[in-house]
Amino acid sequence: MLSCLLAAAVTTAPGPLSLLPKPQNLSVKGGAPFVFAASSKVLDQGDFDADEHLKTIIRDASGISLDSGSGSKIIFRRANTGGEESYRLSVSQTEIVIEAAEDAGAFYAVQTLRQLLPADIEDGRTSKQLSIPQLEIEDEPITEWRGMMMDESRHFFGVEYTKRFIDWLALHKMNVFHWHLVDDGGWRMEVDAYPKLTSIGAWREDTGGVWPGGNWNFGNIRYIMSEGQAKPYGGFYSKEEIRDIVKYAADRHVTVVPEIEMPGHCLPATISYPYLRCDNVAESEHVGYTPTNVFCAGKESTFEFLETVLEETMELFPSEFIHIGADEVWKGHWENCDSCAKRMSDEDLADTHELQSWFVRRMERFLSKNGRRLIGWDEILEGGLAPGATVMSWRGVSGGIAAAKQGRDVIMSPTSHCYFDYAYNNISTEKVYGFNPIVDGLDTDEERSHILGGQANVWTEWISSVDRAEYMIFPRMIALAETLWTAEDQKSWPDFQNRLMPYFERLDALEIDYHPMNPALKETAILFDGSTTIDVPGAKQMPWALHWTRDGSDPTGDSPRYTKPLKVTKPGTYKFVYVMKSGLTSDIQTVDVQQFSAKPPSKLSMGLRMSAYTGTWDLLPDFSTLKPEYTVTVDGVGTAFKPQDDAYALLLKGWLKAPADGLYNFRIGSDDGSRLRIGGALIVDHDGPHGHTEKAGAIRLKKGLYPIRVEMFEIGGGDSLSLRWSGPGFTMKPINPEYLWH
Ligand code: ACM
Ligand code: ZN
Repeated sequence: MLSCLLAAAVTTAPGPLSLLPKPQNLSVKGGAPFVFAASSKVLDQGDFDADEHLKTIIRDASGISLDSGSGSKIIFRRANTGGEESYRLSVSQTEIVIEAAEDAGAFYAVQTLRQLLPADIEDGRTSKQLSIPQLEIEDEPITEWRGMMMDESRHFFGVEYTKRFIDWLALHKMNVFHWHLVDDGGWRMEVDAYPKLTSIGAWREDTGGVWPGGNWNFGNIRYIMSEGQAKPYGGFYSKEEIRDIVKYAADRHVTVVPEIEMPGHCLPATISYPYLRCDNVAESEHVGYTPTNVFCAGKESTFEFLETVLEETMELFPSEFIHIGADEVWKGHWENCDSCAKRMSDEDLADTHELQSWFVRRMERFLSKNGRRLIGWDEILEGGLAPGATVMSWRGVSGGIAAAKQGRDVIMSPTSHCYFDYAYNNISTEKVYGFNPIVDGLDTDEERSHILGGQANVWTEWISSVDRAEYMIFPRMIALAETLWTAEDQKSWPDFQNRLMPYFERLDALEIDYHPMNPALKETAILFDGSTTIDVPGAKQMPWALHWTRDGSDPTGDSPRYTKPLKVTKPGTYKFVYVMKSGLTSDIQTVDVQQFSAKPPSKLSMGLRMSAYTGTWDLLPDFSTLKPEYTVTVDGVGTAFKPQDDAYALLLKGWLKAPADGLYNFRIGSDDGSRLRIGGALIVDHDGPHGHTEKAGAIRLKKGLYPIRVEMFEIGGGDSLSLRWSGPGFTMKPINPEYLWH
């Protein structure tokens, strides 16, 4: 809609308005656009820093200096536009007026102008006219913490990449760079008082190879203790480089929040300075990934070390917040350490959870005395939350909710939406777009006000190259930027996609690798009688080629090309993938297409027939070869009548009654694997050993009865099985007995 208005209004269309994140209020007006010309001039009446950013953008794009012209004007003015990051942007044919209360707002107005200019300005001079349509924008973010975390411990990327990362944040109006500088994979910050942290702790043995899998081995991290011992992998930032990066970020209104991990995830420190370990911990117990690395919480020398490290950290980083990690701490060494035992007795601590809490409280007091605020991962809630501590909620959002209810500030960063090291199949761009840090369960405005915002985390165990990091970050980070900036009632996934599609051209110009959108199949299974079609909505608009196969093999750029809805007369496992010019691909999306004309028996009884099998499998077995222990009738999908044994399998069969014509979505949940078929077609394959998770699928059904088949196995440990559905006129819920027959 916007782009139509725009195309009608301007003589040189700058393309659709690909503003990301979307401004809160935007109106595009008619008339000729503002054109940056040699006669244009910037007038900075508010003593901002943003005018220099604009001049640089225009100079780099066109050679125009904006210094001395006497024609059209770009005026920067101080005004009460709202919060610190708010701005007003008004564009007429002869004037651009940028108003902001603070420098950050003016900087964001310039980023908006940048996104309104042709994408090819990003890779040098453009021959296109630099024009901006006449418009009015009033804008400000809904959250104050719009962050990204980069793990440089597991893999080290260096100054140039880090600055690029900061550029990406700034372009999308994000304002926090959480820098994970310490973890088991390496210590990345120079510390004057403890030079071995980087002479030893920044260099581990290179296990070779690149992604996937190479250069990282959880159990086998070994540091280089003497020259020539092995090929080193690693690196670190000198203090000078850190100062340069912190300033670079500050110039772009990005705060760098350093993370110095304690009391766990500190292998390079305890390797470099073994006195930081608990009593009686041998060298041989102290290689590799957790759980073997933890600072001794008993010895005073640990705190002398950490306080000195934090003093040097605070000298480098002006950030109010200092992150001390505190996640995933293994307490085994503490339990066997005389110094830790004495500490627990002196401080009257009941157990090692309270010892961890005491540790964090002590660091919180230290940081607070120095005018800073402590952040930790949500484990800092265990054993009691330190007063003044801010919680970063990662194991879901419940830690964040609990902290907010205690009146503490929170940053939401749950694994469900914010872990950009997870595959796109698991956390899609659309899923990230659906993230809202103001989660259900916060009951009062006071509680909601403690949610500072959200961030995504890029853990790099399996990300060893810059290209791979970019691919995992984009376009999910753009979706995150919008969820943290734009009001919920302004957000729309189809509208976001419409703005994102042309924006890929800007990412190309910035030479950013990215993950294409996945083929938007509406169903995971189709039943047909005669013939049917498979439609992939949006495929025409995508700038990539869509390829498909029918025989279950994975499609590539050499497979048949999809150009219009596929007419299908043969059953098969149809797979689709987008392939970009670079050869990078989307995730493969699968739809199982089966012929169906089954007639249910005329006499049916309520419930499904469930057969139980005992035996140990690590994948779903071939049930046709097995004899059940027993078969019973059940009125729902679950494990209520499972065998006594720890390892078993279940097969549920019967008829599902679809109450009306329409699209049905199913969610099967299980621990371990499960599979759902309807009418013989595979709706969800959730096979393999895993904890309880749900997986979704969908099928369009006509009103009637369909064979349903649910398979499940449990290898030992926790067990579960659930099946929910939504359909025409009803939302997601368990399948009631009246819909299940045999
Ligand atoms: C974390 O992912 N361990 C914070
Ligand atoms: Zn100890």
